Amino acid sequence: MEIAVSWWFTLVLGVLPLMMWLLWSWNELRFLAPLKARSSATKLPPGHMGLPYFGEMLTFLWYFKILRRPDDFIKFKQDRYGDGVGMYRTYLFGSPAIITCSPSITKFVLQSADLFRTSPSIELVGPNCLVAVHGKPHTRLRSYVSNAINRPEALKRIALHVQPRIVSSLQSWAEKGTVRAFDEVRKVTFENIGKLFVSFEPGPILDTLDQCFAGLLSGMRAQRLNFPGTAYHHALQCRKKLIAIFRTELEKKKKNGNGSETTNDLMDGLMHIRDEEGKKLSDDEVLDNIAGFVVAGYETSSLVSMWALYYLAKFPNVLRRLREENMAISKNKKGDFIYHEDISQMKYTNKEPAKPGTYNVFGGGPRICPGNMLARMQLAIFLHYLAIGYKWELINPDAKITYLSHPKPEDGVEIAFSKI
Ligand code: HEM
Repeated sequence: MEIAVSWWFTLVLGVLPLMMWLLWSWNELRFLAPLKARSSATKLPPGHMGLPYFGEMLTFLWYFKILRRPDDFIKFKQDRYGDGVGMYRTYLFGSPAIITCSPSITKFVLQSADLFRTSPSIELVGPNCLVAVHGKPHTRLRSYVSNAINRPEALKRIALHVQPRIVSSLQSWAEKGTVRAFDEVRKVTFENIGKLFVSFEPGPILDTLDQCFAGLLSGMRAQRLNFPGTAYHHALQCRKKLIAIFRTELEKKKKNGNGSETTNDLMDGLMHIRDEEGKKLSDDEVLDNIAGFVVAGYETSSLVSMWALYYLAKFPNVLRRLREENMAISKNKKGDFIYHEDISQMKYTNKEPAKPGTYNVFGGGPRICPGNMLARMQLAIFLHYLAIGYKWELINPDAKITYLSHPKPEDGVEIAFSKI
């Protein structure tokens, strides 16, 4: 009896607190101790790396998903660790990480690619994807990729390619009368991506690809647990499927003499581009980066169009100025569509690019979004046709916002939509 009591006593007073301390400190000991051991002068940002494996995911989900007050996640850190440094250490999405919350520190981090690395799941993005490579290989790959998307000829061609679908989608929204803007912009964005990136027309293959990308994106925002039933496991299956579809297309293009004459899409662009020494990208580099473009450009572009609809409905004075500018351009244009030159005249629509050192939605430094010109241009075209031809109202102007995986109104921005 006495032995049992002293056993419980030791457990409650000794072992349990020790276990809890170990759980609480595990990530700190595991990741920070080696850095401190290398140099005792090493200074680390304040913060805490949370529990083993999960890190601060539970706190993160609490603020983002349950409370729906993402700013308070940062505020909580500022209250706890002070807000002098503008940077906190943490552990999120299966990886040690930092959170920056001051413009100068964010700029410093974005400019210091040698000190701070992005750490996407290589299994999901592929080892040759731009976001997964670092240093010199990154600079090399980036010049290919930027050339393929940002060359003026590429942008001119894209400007014409995306318009028919934007025009016909807006007409179909007006016929329906009420639409969920997020679903509709996603649809038109993906159809344009299919056409621009791999010359796919709407149909079963594009639908399969859409489902695969949805699965892949969910896995990227999930804990990296790989067994049947998890989002991460499903994402890996989706990646396999979509790479197989792209590979079949690439082989077809190679058989047809690289296909550039007939299709001239982004995959052709990546297959043809050569560096100064005349070297081309490997097949795997082409495939990983085509998939990477879709991951980077699909959700982002859809969300930005959705938010444009939302805020223009809330700020009619901005819509009025946008309409004036675009009406003037549409009166002077010669053909049915607007051209790259017309878009560059849209001073109000385009808004000035962010000044160096200020917040830029496209990031900064050596990894600044290489698709930013393309994204801006597509948005300008979308705004043009919206402003000159349509009016719309939010059905639920006070809809709550959800914050994961990205901020969006709960109703997906339901609008009543009609011709002017
Ligand atoms: C409104 C739409 C978009 C937004 C807001 C956006 C934003 C971003 C941001 C914030 C980054 C990280 C930058 C950094 O780390 O400094 C990024 C990277 C990237 N974006 Fe975009 N993006 C958009 C559209 C696109 C499109 C349409 C494409 C391709 C067609 C694209 C391709 C990429 C790629 C490949 C990277 C990785 C760059 C690298 O690691 O070097 N993005 N984007």
